[in-house]
Amino acid sequence: MLSAEKLTKTYPGRPPAHALRGVTAAVSAGEIVGVVGESGSGKSTLARIWAGLDDATGGAATLHQRPVADWLARDRLGFHRRVQYVFQDPVESLNPRLAIREQLATPLRLLRGLPPADARDAVGELLAQVGLKAEHADRHPHAFSGGQAQRIAIARALAARPEVVICDEAVSALDVSVQADILDLLRELRASHGLAYLFITHDLAVAAEFCQRLIVLKSGEIVEQGAANTVLANPQTDYTRTLRDSVFSL
Ligand SMILES: Nc1ncnc2c1ncn2[C@@H]1O[C@H](COP(=O)(O)OP(=O)(O)OP(=O)(O)O)[C@@H](O)[C@H]1O
Ligand SMILES: [Mg+2]
Repeated sequence: MLSAEKLTKTYPGRPPAHALRGVTAAVSAGEIVGVVGESGSGKSTLARIWAGLDDATGGAATLHQRPVADWLARDRLGFHRRVQYVFQDPVESLNPRLAIREQLATPLRLLRGLPPADARDAVGELLAQVGLKAEHADRHPHAFSGGQAQRIAIARALAARPEVVICDEAVSALDVSVQADILDLLRELRASHGLAYLFITHDLAVAAEFCQRLIVLKSGEIVEQGAANTVLANPQTDYTRTLRDSVFSL
């Protein structure tokens, strides 16, 4: 479904930052693919390019074999209907001035194509799916805890009924117990909606628990990838072993 072929990204500067140096990877329908690696290894850069938020310098990022840039030029709504994302800071990613109802109704109208009256009704349904109540719809973002706000960000991503949700450190800012609840929610949603996730995390314990397959990035290159269990049980590189051991020893 999502594919990257020899993807490169260089940010200009002195020296230039080679954020991606030829990344070839893919996410299949319904799959949970984790991207792990130390800070600055290029995880968010890959996520942003696949989400259509940033351009690659070279190589190709595609959705259903069609370049992301081509989707954005010819069928921007179609792209965003299929690919959604959830970022680390939920409060930051919600508009502080708009009630939740407005923020959820917009993608329901624009991306799912519901008439305005139906979109307003569907907001309650969407909130129920992420474990919130219909009456929450009239509140503003500041009235929610971090975990609740992240549920709203997930609800907004789901409004479009996407095929894949890109989660960039989506649970990293949350307490461990809230993290576990959100991961359960993501699992349930995957079972009910047939979603795929690209799940970016620096936390290998979370990656081990949640992901089926792992891509390990180091300085913009993939150093190994494979089934999550295999990669973690039997790392092929010292880099992955160090990442793993630094988490598990904690
Ligand atoms: N807008 C930018 N301008 C210049 N350099 C950038 C920019 N964004 C990222 N970089 C550089 O690209 C490299 C990869 O950054 P990226 O944000 O993808 O890392 P990451 O793996 O997501 O790290 P973290 O775990 O800290 O979020 C880093 O060296 C970073 O400094
Ligand atoms: Mg990042």
